[in-house]
Amino acid sequence: MDMMQNLKAGPPPAAPELVQLAGVHKRHGQGLAGVQALHDIDLTVAQGEMVAICGPCGSGKTSLLNIIGMLDTASEGSVIIARLLVSKMSDQARADLRSEMIGFVFQSYSLIPVMTAHENVLLPLMLRGRLDEAALEEAEQRAADLLSRLGLATQMRHYPGRLDASQSQRVAIARSLVTHPRLVVADEPTSRLDNGCVRLVMDLFARHQYEHGTAFVLSTRDQRQFSRVTRTLQLTEGRLAGTPLEARRRPLRVQV
Ligand SMILES: Nc1ncnc2c1ncn2[C@@H]1O[C@H](COP(=O)(O)OP(=O)(O)OP(=O)(O)O)[C@@H](O)[C@H]1O
Ligand SMILES: [Mg+2]
Repeated sequence: MDMMQNLKAGPPPAAPELVQLAGVHKRHGQGLAGVQALHDIDLTVAQGEMVAICGPCGSGKTSLLNIIGMLDTASEGSVIIARLLVSKMSDQARADLRSEMIGFVFQSYSLIPVMTAHENVLLPLMLRGRLDEAALEEAEQRAADLLSRLGLATQMRHYPGRLDASQSQRVAIARSLVTHPRLVVADEPTSRLDNGCVRLVMDLFARHQYEHGTAFVLSTRDQRQFSRVTRTLQLTEGRLAGTPLEARRRPLRVQV
């Protein structure tokens, strides 16, 4: 009986869309000095997907990720995150949504120099408001666990000035995951890592994808990640070309 009902119900519903960009353009600067970094980008990312954006230096990867991560706004077009039209939100509302649901790995790590590696990872949880003693203990344990999984158990009390590029990049990755965000946006997150560390990072990403349904948008020039991602999209001079899977998806067109 149950089986009959299942058959009648048809295929399982597709994962809900988490990110929907339609007709997005980005221009940095004004007038003759301005640079058109992105042209007419349509992109849809479902909950739990891992999408790699590949492209050479200057192709617009950071410009695109900053818009998806709500650190920057599009010059034109619509940006919908978790069904909210963020391109129309106030700066404060966007910052609140970002803190609630996005983890971001900056291309240049952006660690706070006066905080230890462990404190840097804790920071997104601390910024959400005052934690009681039990919540603080759990947060500290979670940050320590992430650092251990990324091979940084002995560097937890080190300040960023004592960390090399690989260690700094892994601290930035741990920080992006500490809130168990629905979406992680990571700008070339493995650019400074050796093969062993790439494996640790991609295993940790896969674990979050599986356990928390986290979606990932990664920019990369690193072939070592490609076997682990759901889709690879090519960005060339600010224009995005999809894989066949992307071509089958119809990006939502929204009038703004
Ligand atoms: N704040 C800015 N002001 C002016 N131009 C900018 C700014 N940010 C980026 N650009 C320009 O926009 C284009 C895309 O830059 P972007 O940093 O997005 O590319 P990228 O693919 O991330 O490059 P890289 O691989 O070097 O990190 C480049 O021509 C860059 O010079
Ligand atoms: Mg970049």
